[in-house]
Amino acid sequence: MQNQETHSISEPQASQQVQPQFLFKSLSDKYEKDNIGHGKGVYISTYGCQMNVNDSDRMYALLEMANFTPVNDPEQAEVIIINACSVREKPVHKVYSEVGTYRKLKERNPNLKIGVGGCVGSQEKGKLIDQQPLIDFVFGTDNIDSLPEIVAKSFINPNDSVIETQFRHREPYMVETLVRNPGVSTFVNITKGCDNFCTFCVVPYTRGREKSRPYSHVIDDIKNLMQRGVKEVTVLGQNVNSYKSECGKDFADLLEGIVLETEVERVRYTTSHPKDFDEKLMKVMAKYNPRICEYIHLPIQSGNSEVLKRMNRGYTREEYLAKVNQIKSILPNAVLSTDIIVGFPGETEEQFKDTVSLVLEVGYETIYAFKYSPRPFTKAARFEDQVPEDVKSRRLDELLAAHDQWTREEVKKYEGQVLKVLVDQFDDKRNSLSGRTTQNKNVFFLGEKDLVGKIIDVKITKAFPSTMRGEVI
Ligand code: SAH
Ligand code: SF4
Ligand code: F3S
Repeated sequence: MQNQETHSISEPQASQQVQPQFLFKSLSDKYEKDNIGHGKGVYISTYGCQMNVNDSDRMYALLEMANFTPVNDPEQAEVIIINACSVREKPVHKVYSEVGTYRKLKERNPNLKIGVGGCVGSQEKGKLIDQQPLIDFVFGTDNIDSLPEIVAKSFINPNDSVIETQFRHREPYMVETLVRNPGVSTFVNITKGCDNFCTFCVVPYTRGREKSRPYSHVIDDIKNLMQRGVKEVTVLGQNVNSYKSECGKDFADLLEGIVLETEVERVRYTTSHPKDFDEKLMKVMAKYNPRICEYIHLPIQSGNSEVLKRMNRGYTREEYLAKVNQIKSILPNAVLSTDIIVGFPGETEEQFKDTVSLVLEVGYETIYAFKYSPRPFTKAARFEDQVPEDVKSRRLDELLAAHDQWTREEVKKYEGQVLKVLVDQFDDKRNSLSGRTTQNKNVFFLGEKDLVGKIIDVKITKAFPSTMRGEVI
């Protein structure tokens, strides 16, 4: 229900529709003519999920348009930005300790500007500067397109801090993908924000309400990226399955459209929400296999229905398992991975054991498991029965050990198989190549640089849980 309400606010009316080329041009006109950066070096330190990685790329691209120069070393920078994640642990402490390491640089160059952005910026706002005066500016996840102006303000009035963290809830989501060097494979955002409010998760508070990009913008974006040499796109959203375009297309329609209307060789996506992952999507994946990759990241979080209910996930263990069985029958070669939280408030030993048994029953080749970490604004942080830290650590170790033992044996099935690999990297020191299979396994092998960007047959000689070695045949 919440999703639908948000879409009616966020989606552009026909008259409001703007073509992505125009958006890009308006940003480049805006910044190129101002020459805000005067060639100053900018360094961005990135933590977090693919969205933050994608956002950092956007920040670099925007700042470059405004004539800043991206640099790889903070020592050479006049602007340092920390694009930080707040999903777990103590992100704010991490930010403070990283800023502390720049103290000497700031003493040497008092004009050095230090900024904090991303989910930590949205979460902490001006508090960051109150606590750490070395920080000059803070911006949120909805303020990235104003970054050149934010940095410029910081240079013009060096004694004033700049804080821009307001959400643009009412504006449609019209951004165009901006990547400096897209390479063979790149990310394309299709939704932003999240309306699911899982009780453990801070993302709805740091990324705001869910919005979908117009269908034609996504398609045009991918066509433009292909002209720049991109062969594979990973479409991104906190819950891609709730994508809904202004013309009523859902996520399965979008994937089908990408395959039919562009010539992109491979499409991946992340993240799926089990409550919204449906049969229509499975069938589209099967129909366009292998262009739609046979890899599904389907975060379960817990294998116990009572815990799932308290997490507000919207599915039970049984419903999840039924969906997995359906996936296995429609997409027999699909590889599954998942996210898990151990030690959610009130999780008993029995409930934890349900998670271990589910992991082994589904047979995920990769799991990303985390100890529950209370987050600001979230309901679960206020639940009374928090699990002690030592219990969480022990459960995490137990879960990882059980899974590791299983997956090491399981992946041996790949040894001797010939798999299609999209080559995306060349390491000139070792004269070696790497790329990914459609099932998202990283494969390393010897070969020539001109194979980068091609899909080739590689025979697997050694398989580990997340990487493999092979030889070109
Ligand atoms: N949108 C994705 C998840 C985004 S956050 C989804 O719905 O699955 C990525 C992962 O971080 C989550 O899947 C969860 O496993 C983990 N996570 C989120 N909040 C957490 C918290 N408070 N403590 C520990 N892990 C958390
Ligand atoms: Fe967080 Fe849940 Fe939204 Fe994922 S679906 S981002 S876990 S609130
Ligand atoms: Fe972290 Fe924000 Fe991503 S909290 S996981 S960077 S959406």
